Amino acid sequence: MVDVLIGLQWGDEGKGKIVDLLAPRYDIIARFQGGPNAGHTLIVNGKKYVLHTIPSGAIHPNTLNIVGTGTVIDPMTLCAEMDMLMADGIDVSQRLELSDKAMLILPTHKMLDKYFEESKGHLKIGSTLRGIGPAYQDKYARIGIPLGHIHHKDFDAQVKELSLFHLSLLKIYGLRPEDFDLLDHAKTTWLDAIERIRSLSITAIEDTINQAIKDGAKVLAEGAQGSLLDITFGSYPFVTSSNTISANACIGLGIAPQKIRQVIGVFKAYMTRVGSGPFPTELSNETGELLRTHGHEFGATTGRKRRCGWLDTALLHKAIILNGVTDLMMTKSDVLNCLPTFTAHDKNGSAHEFASWPDDIAEITQIDHLPKNLLKYLDFIDHQSGIQVSGVSTGPQRHQMAYR
Ligand code: IMP
Repeated sequence: MVDVLIGLQWGDEGKGKIVDLLAPRYDIIARFQGGPNAGHTLIVNGKKYVLHTIPSGAIHPNTLNIVGTGTVIDPMTLCAEMDMLMADGIDVSQRLELSDKAMLILPTHKMLDKYFEESKGHLKIGSTLRGIGPAYQDKYARIGIPLGHIHHKDFDAQVKELSLFHLSLLKIYGLRPEDFDLLDHAKTTWLDAIERIRSLSITAIEDTINQAIKDGAKVLAEGAQGSLLDITFGSYPFVTSSNTISANACIGLGIAPQKIRQVIGVFKAYMTRVGSGPFPTELSNETGELLRTHGHEFGATTGRKRRCGWLDTALLHKAIILNGVTDLMMTKSDVLNCLPTFTAHDKNGSAHEFASWPDDIAEITQIDHLPKNLLKYLDFIDHQSGIQVSGVSTGPQRHQMAYR
């Protein structure tokens, strides 16, 4: 059976922590969409790991980590991540399987991302510039290079042909000499990374997963970004370039819909967004600044400041419906007590004020034992979202979690 875990907002909901926490219950953790635009932060034994490509099961010695068919892979980021883990004695290479159908990100994809974005003027998305959009563009134009082609005889020729096509596009966009030099340098590093990943397990992961399910294995499909950034249901064009909602776990891993059991939806007690696009409950004032500082709201991938605002339960409710959420988890509730009072919007857009709590909640493990004011907030969310919150994260550490 497969459980799917997805973010219900604009990404950065704290999914990495929840996946890491749930990992021991699963045999396989699999990423099904997106690429190194994601930044999943895990804090284990006081040490911080930020993962962009490798699923968040990386730290668990018995978990198989799968990078699925619906993803895009930058070999350089992948190698850097493996090295980061290796520096801590974690050799993930034997527990990592990459889809032969995942699409390769070339250095020219990243450069195109930058030039496309520059040309957009006021319609700039605020892309992470990791080449994600251009790589998916090529996939759907049927000129992309699937990872499995790494073992084809004419792989080098494919890379050359696609790079030349990209260069012709970049010239139209006015490729600057310094960027041309950058590309030249990146080419060598990219090819070195390709050589390194050749020895990894690159397979038809859909066969691995379906056989594992048949054998009784438990799979967790780990979503990246968030539902409000979904290419179809998000605030287009200010979205990412993949479907981020739970339904895409089927396509992105090659599993049938009836294999899915639970859909775990993760949301933050307030809201954040990196990049451009509508944010109805945004706080462009000192309160927003306070949430940013106390919540360490800076992008895990780009370091950019995250825009902060109140919880909008109309958006939360819609995301719950689109994903078919069965289990609802709230993160970063501890950040709210940097304020004496805070606000949340109901489904009709009306603001409601809540008092915070002076108590430290970091060691509370049962929802019933949380401060009365936080319980009031949870009641409001349960009522507005139509589903009870079943887990409340009370701090960044793995064990800081209260359950119902
Ligand atoms: P792209 O996916 O890098 O093209 O970026 C498109 C939009 O999605 C931008 O607003 C990014 O800031 C946002 N985005 C992409 N990935 C993430 C993520 O993992 N967390 C939060 N925002 C993201």
